[in-house]
Amino acid sequence: MSTNQQLFDRAKISIPGGVNSPVRAFRAVGGTPRFITRAQGAYMWDAEGTRYIDYIGSWGPMILGHGHPAVLDAVRKAIEEGFSFGAPTEREIELAEEILSLVPSCEQIRLVSSGTEAGMSAIRLARGATGRSKIIKFEGCYHGHADALLVKAGSGLATFGHPTSAGVPAEVVQHTLVLEYNNVEQIEEAFRTQGSEIACVMIEPIAGNMNFVRSSVPFVKRIRELCDQHGALFVFDEVMSGFRVALGSAQSLYAELIPGFRPDLSVFGKVIGGGMPLAAFGGPRRIMEQLAPLGPVYQAGTLSGNPVATACGLATLREIKKPGFFEALSERTAQLAHGLQAAAQAAGVPLVSECQGGMFGFFFASELPQNYNVVMATDKERFNRFFHGMLDRGVYLAPALYEAGFVSAAHTADDIDATLAAARDVLAQL
Ligand SMILES: Cc1ncc(COP(=O)(O)O)c(C=O)c1O
Repeated sequence: MSTNQQLFDRAKISIPGGVNSPVRAFRAVGGTPRFITRAQGAYMWDAEGTRYIDYIGSWGPMILGHGHPAVLDAVRKAIEEGFSFGAPTEREIELAEEILSLVPSCEQIRLVSSGTEAGMSAIRLARGATGRSKIIKFEGCYHGHADALLVKAGSGLATFGHPTSAGVPAEVVQHTLVLEYNNVEQIEEAFRTQGSEIACVMIEPIAGNMNFVRSSVPFVKRIRELCDQHGALFVFDEVMSGFRVALGSAQSLYAELIPGFRPDLSVFGKVIGGGMPLAAFGGPRRIMEQLAPLGPVYQAGTLSGNPVATACGLATLREIKKPGFFEALSERTAQLAHGLQAAAQAAGVPLVSECQGGMFGFFFASELPQNYNVVMATDKERFNRFFHGMLDRGVYLAPALYEAGFVSAAHTADDIDATLAAARDVLAQL
């Protein structure tokens, strides 16, 4: 039987770095990536037959756990009917209707195949609809790997960002302004000096790409006001938080705290595909109708709205809509997040945790970070030792300190207890 190391060595010959997405290579934590052979419920098994309690859930989509019977049935049926037609299907309407019924800010939605594609298309739409070029994003938020978004902050507020990837020309990011997350003064200053040129502000409302950092309510409220005053669009990237932190996504949580709050455009992925390549972006009809074939903003996809992916996403959404689903998931997730913090406290290790719905984060720090620089200043060595200690005990956490974790409906109280027992063991040696 192949070992993980043998497979990794072999993979590196035919695939750059041995992986098809960089974080899978374990570069941040070191060691050998696990090659997964199968998954069921809350567990995954690697090539050596080792079982792990899975807290990645394919980086978010597997909210029901792996191999949920209703999803399997829907996918099997869809496969029998055909893999892809390149023509419209009723199932696309059903999925669109399902998403719209749960997210009141969206009157129309377009389906695509990845979060990157959805985010990139939402920006094009925002630029097309406003006739402006500049966009604002925040340090530490990830919106996919489109050129204009691979950018880090420039030296001052007035300067536009620098590419973070080779192959992205400086001219391509010259319209992208990168600001500090949760910094109200910076965004006020940006709008004061450049407000009439800004097409949109894009944000991860609960940033899972810096582990778990919430945008503060005053911050979101102020961005909403500034966008309204200056005619810019507010884009919520809910690829990770969508249908994961609450049935109505993160925007429903902010709408509870800010009367009348809605983003202009929303970007979804992960959960809406239930583990298949599917993502979407949506908003009010007057903006969405700017898209081809109705309007001048071009956007298309051979596999967009794929019939197997839509069947998988639809079956997933129908499960998470069931009464009590989010209450139970939230309780389980809180049991884990609070349990980790309590275990660390007992061991005298500074650790803080956060969670919402089925998403959680924890930091080796004494206070919850509010922005990227603070996240990256938390104790990396300790995180890496903790990660490997947990992995050795059969618990698969995200392999980088800036990534969120995910609990599924398949995680039982016993799984959480086993995870916390492993954590106590590891924390005692940190
Ligand atoms: C918030 C957010 N936006 C966009 C993306 C990109 O999605 P994809 O990896 O499907 O292209 C991700 C991926 O993790 C994400 O977390």
